[in-house]
Amino acid sequence: MTEVGIDAVEIWTGKLKLDLAETFAPEMGDDPGKYTKGLGLYESSFPDTYEDIVTMGANACKRLMERKGLSPEDVGRIDVATESSFDNSKPISTYIAGCLEQTFDGDFHHANKGERKFACVAGTQAIDDAYNWIRAGRNRGRAAIVVATDTALYARGDPGEATQGAGAVAMLVDEDPSLVSLSDAQGYGSADETDFLKPNQQFPSVDGKRSVQVYLARMREAVEDYESVAGDIHPDELVYAPFHTPFPGMVRKAGLLAYRHITRDTDIETQLAEEIGMQPRRDEFDDEEAFLEAVSDYTDALKETDRYAEWYDTTIDPTLDIARHVGNWYTGSVHVARIAALKRARDEGREMTDRRLLVASYGSGAQAEVHHETVQPGWTDEIDGLNIDDQIANRYDLTFEEYEEVHDAHDHSKDRDYEEFTAPSNEFVFDGWGRMGERKYRYVA
Ligand code: CAA
Repeated sequence: MTEVGIDAVEIWTGKLKLDLAETFAPEMGDDPGKYTKGLGLYESSFPDTYEDIVTMGANACKRLMERKGLSPEDVGRIDVATESSFDNSKPISTYIAGCLEQTFDGDFHHANKGERKFACVAGTQAIDDAYNWIRAGRNRGRAAIVVATDTALYARGDPGEATQGAGAVAMLVDEDPSLVSLSDAQGYGSADETDFLKPNQQFPSVDGKRSVQVYLARMREAVEDYESVAGDIHPDELVYAPFHTPFPGMVRKAGLLAYRHITRDTDIETQLAEEIGMQPRRDEFDDEEAFLEAVSDYTDALKETDRYAEWYDTTIDPTLDIARHVGNWYTGSVHVARIAALKRARDEGREMTDRRLLVASYGSGAQAEVHHETVQPGWTDEIDGLNIDDQIANRYDLTFEEYEEVHDAHDHSKDRDYEEFTAPSNEFVFDGWGRMGERKYRYVA
């Protein structure tokens, strides 16, 4: 059977940056270590005043189509995943297609367009939709574009303010992909939760501490569901495990629990037993509380072992290389993590073809999804085609007062004009409102 997966990716970061340790922490009266060590974040990306989810998504798509030599008729589907939409009816994919039609010959009139919503997991769900559309043979030889684009802003003063970010990831899903093929096997962990939501409001209502627990609980269910169809995961099978990354400290928590789970009943657990004993088993305990305490003690001890530290450094840490400098991109975050890992592999000259990634997505509300991907022979060219390092390095460094202005500029309840910080060039920009309240865009050469 022909492989289906991600053929190419482009990443577009918001063009402004807030330095969390140098600029944000002092204003909050916090130790910079809370950000750099605790949350694992150094900087957040923000959109300039002329950027939004449409411009970032369209700019990523334009680069993707140009690099892959595509014209609009090669694309049969455009799906946008976002939790920052400004329209409850007209999907963001129509705005993005409209932008692209300004610069490409032809149009997307025969492409199916939609918008996917389930918090941060929607990007992965949109890839699923594209995969299923191709597998069903309904694509007529055409590829799908999936765009995950978000402006992840929290209300001023919310604890989540430290984890903000903005950017877009455009992905081409096709047969015989150059980057990664997707597994049929998948696992879900899904429940009606109120950890993070936006009931008709721009900034989220968040129960931050609970959201961390919900993330871990749903992820655990998804891993177990995945293993029920794909068999037990063994650490040696995985080269990287990209997780949804609201902040790297979250993935550090998830990585430890994942390692405990995937080493249970393996040779690794036996080897570690000399140092920290075997993992507690429920049937060895009379009551649940004693069992949970023993599990917690074992997990603390596991965290201190060299074996775990080495696994974390090689399998998880590389997935965080970009997130550390851009913050949370909601729907795009897990897709940034995949690319970060492959970039690190490329930098270190690792051979990745046919190696396996375990990809773990999560969306509040809440749902986790786990599947695996197999790296394809064309991966090096795809990674070499990215310019995300330059984009990150070239962001405008905001003062705290400028950050406050940028937050206001993107606050839908504040109706004022704000000066831009950077000069747009070769990109789509927001160009004001039309007669029906629609947002308008133009290309700046
Ligand atoms: N040096 C080193 N570490 C420090 C430190 C210092 N000086 N000061 C604090 N820390 C550590 C803390 O110990 C803590 O680490 P642990 O959790 O490992 O103990 C970490 O830094 C953060 O400190 P706090 O817990 O005090 O931070 P907080 O309460 O202000 O906020 C948060 C943390 C609740 C996660 C908040 O950032 C938040 O609400 N974020 C938004 C919600 C979110 O991202 N949830 C994640 C799961 S939901 C999801 O994934 C969906 C999504 O994208 C939103």
